Amino acid sequence: MDLLLLGDEQEDMVMKYLERGEMAALFDGEDAIALSVVTKEGENLWELKNIAVLPAFQGKGYGKQLVRFWQEKLEGKGILQAGTGETPKTMGFYMACGFQFSHRITDFFVHHYDHPIVEDGILLKDMVYFSYKL
Ligand SMILES: CC(C)(COP(=O)(O)OP(=O)(O)OC[C@H]1O[C@@H](n2cnc3c(N)ncnc32)[C@H](O)[C@@H]1OP(=O)(O)O)[C@@H](O)C(=O)NCCC(=O)NCCS
Repeated sequence: MDLLLLGDEQEDMVMKYLERGEMAALFDGEDAIALSVVTKEGENLWELKNIAVLPAFQGKGYGKQLVRFWQEKLEGKGILQAGTGETPKTMGFYMACGFQFSHRITDFFVHHYDHPIVEDGILLKDMVYFSYKL
């Protein structure tokens, strides 16, 4: 749960997709150091709902390795999309993983979260979607 909340800080939002999603994680011995959750959103449409790497292990390629796992597992099966807050860090990450800007949902974080979400000093408002052709 600590890792899930690192990727998406409100537990009831995590619970909305956890049951219907599939999880892939990376372990260092017995300890999970990174995880990701993907859901099926429609015919040929998949969504990376959560991805998180423990702070001590960030910037070492593990996040990209998890994304690559899904890109290979779902190859030829449509589109993989990911929604994120508008911060240079996460947008840079998805672009480095081969995703392109797709669309935005205005004020998503304002309407769907019960408290202000601040990431890297930026107050999140819109959900920005990136997509990758599998
Ligand atoms: C976002 C996160 C999952 C990235 O995982 P990571 O293991 O640190 O990232 P990687 O080391 O695999 O980096 C992959 C690529 O993203 C790029 N990237 C990572 N951080 C970046 C940044 N701040 N700005 C631009 N690019 C960045 C890297 O340069 C790398 O590109 P390269 O392969 O061309 O060198 C991780 O930092 C994290 O868990 N953050 C906290 C939770 C979070 O924000 N989750 C995403 C919610 S949408």
